[in-house]
Amino acid sequence: MSISQSTAEHIKSLAMIEEVVGDYVPLKKKGQNMWACCPFHNEKSPSFSVSPAKGIYKCFGCGKAGDSVQFVMDIEGVNYPEAIRHLAKKYGVEIEEEEEISDEQQQRYNERESMLIALNYAKEFFKLNLETEEGKSIGLSYFYERGFSKEIIQKFDLGYALDKWDALLTSAQKQGYEKEILEKCGLIIPKEDRFYDRFRGRVIFPIHNVAGKSIAFGARILKADKNQPKYINSPETEVYHKSDVLYGISQAKQALRAKDNCYLVEGYTDVISLHLSGIENVVASSGTSLTEGQITLIKRFTDNVTVLFDGDQAGIKASLRGIDLLLAGGLNVKAVVFPDGEDPDSYSQKLGSSDFQQYLLAQAKDFMTFKLDLVADDLAKDPIKKAEVIREVVISISKIPDPLKRAVYIKDCSLHLEIEESLLYSELNKLLLKSKADTERSESFTNPPLLDQELIEDIASSTSATQDQIIALQERETVRMLIVYGFQNLDENIKVAEYLLQELEEVDFQTPIYSQMIALYKEALAKGHIPDADYFLKVDDSQIKNEVIHMISTKYELSEHWTGRHGIFISKEEDNLNITIYKAVLKLKHKIVKKLIAQNLNDLKNSTENEVEKYQLISMELKKIDREIALQLGIVISS
Ligand code: CTP
Ligand code: MN
Repeated sequence: MSISQSTAEHIKSLAMIEEVVGDYVPLKKKGQNMWACCPFHNEKSPSFSVSPAKGIYKCFGCGKAGDSVQFVMDIEGVNYPEAIRHLAKKYGVEIEEEEEISDEQQQRYNERESMLIALNYAKEFFKLNLETEEGKSIGLSYFYERGFSKEIIQKFDLGYALDKWDALLTSAQKQGYEKEILEKCGLIIPKEDRFYDRFRGRVIFPIHNVAGKSIAFGARILKADKNQPKYINSPETEVYHKSDVLYGISQAKQALRAKDNCYLVEGYTDVISLHLSGIENVVASSGTSLTEGQITLIKRFTDNVTVLFDGDQAGIKASLRGIDLLLAGGLNVKAVVFPDGEDPDSYSQKLGSSDFQQYLLAQAKDFMTFKLDLVADDLAKDPIKKAEVIREVVISISKIPDPLKRAVYIKDCSLHLEIEESLLYSELNKLLLKSKADTERSESFTNPPLLDQELIEDIASSTSATQDQIIALQERETVRMLIVYGFQNLDENIKVAEYLLQELEEVDFQTPIYSQMIALYKEALAKGHIPDADYFLKVDDSQIKNEVIHMISTKYELSEHWTGRHGIFISKEEDNLNITIYKAVLKLKHKIVKKLIAQNLNDLKNSTENEVEKYQLISMELKKIDREIALQLGIVISS
């Protein structure tokens, strides 16, 4: 069954981009557009724009762009039909299904989807196992012993893997699942000439993606056994990238937004225990150190993180780097430490829900206080350590992107450690300078944008771009002019479209997509219709659509945003449309001539004696054209 075309169209017409995006990130209106920090990459100042008028989003930092459906696909990690279903739910639209058409459509289900289906089957299988005799007496009783309720077992889709070599494999094969897919999912492992189940005789913790789909499993041993690992986890697969996943995220989603805070714990059981204590805004890094991908994931929901530390010093010290990473991500970080020997799981069971919740609130310390307290003992014992401590704290502060926040922490630190602020600042500045090279790279995203033309020149003058790449950029620019300004009058007699096409008559576009777009443009024009962006957005070709989205999300809207904030003025290209268009064509020709000159020079080098003259003539001809164009462009060229 698939979604009918008309339902899809209806849903698309309802799904306002600002409402869809607004579910994930808070949007601020500025000019015609709305802005946010990009949910797809880590950034400190907003370069993610949403245009309600055009129904599209675009990030000027990471380049992600598209319409409402694309946004859902990107952010939920789902495919097209799933995105449509998601939006249907949001807008309360009932989906009209159509019969599946053919094998061909079946084949279009790519591997990823087959994997998700197989993983879902495995999850259901493990859940059902809890109802077997073995499952009840071993798995279920284990969960009950740990205080897990029926509801929580359901909420986290907990299950049990039977203590057999191939229980899952046999059952899945009976249902028609291919061995290759099961292996790709990490569910079975080859040994000699057969396969066996990866998870056996263990309780199962499914790992979900944000959308709530099972993408991997963690399997815990039931009794302590020194010879076996406590957990066996799924390996990395096409659908499971460990470093981008947080355990519990799908169950935490709403609470993260509602509470505007994220509790960060270590393990599966910590997450579950917090839920049992009535705390749902919690995720786990699953025993590994935190990654940037995981931080980006958190930032989609909240800017505030409270890290819960087990009560052993060694563990805390090891996790401190994670705090710096959170700070560097622009998050506000707090920390809670549990009494010696306790972890969130054990301590929540000990205190009970309401006392535990109280404890978290009362004990949550700002990261600075937390760090200073941590070293207080060391300091008391050994004052000479002070320099070391100061350095460590200042390193953390230097990670914070916001200078105002940094200033507050420097003040704090100065009071606590009884040190001159100026001394701390000098240490801080040293560190900031040192990391400047790194930050410059990431902050270049948020630098004022260049005009497209300037951008191309910029790239052209960098030695790494090839002539073909530069020509492609210039071609793109010309197509952009056509699409954005084609219908405008250049003067009383001629439209931009006519002028450009006339000028481009003798130019063969080398980049397939742009030559394809030019062809489409001419086709429409021949039918008496000047195509605009909307026309191309309706073309059934995602590559073209994507191009157009990038073309119409102009820098000028971004510059409006910049002008507001930074008092920078950039003139609009429309103000000088004639010149802009005239130059765009000339520049394209110029780049092509340059390429021809280089080619000819090469031919000349490899020519036989009687060819030399021919190539020299061509060379002279080309250089003449080059000079003419340069003259018109007002470029001074040597020789
Ligand atoms: N972990 C793992 N493999 C191991 C040990 C730990 O993958 N051999 C990961 C798991 O994600 C686990 C987390 O690290 O949830 C924290 O480890 P630990 O505290 O040992 O496990 P808990 O989940 O807290 O389990 P329990 O409460 O039963 O001790
Ligand atoms: Mn633990």
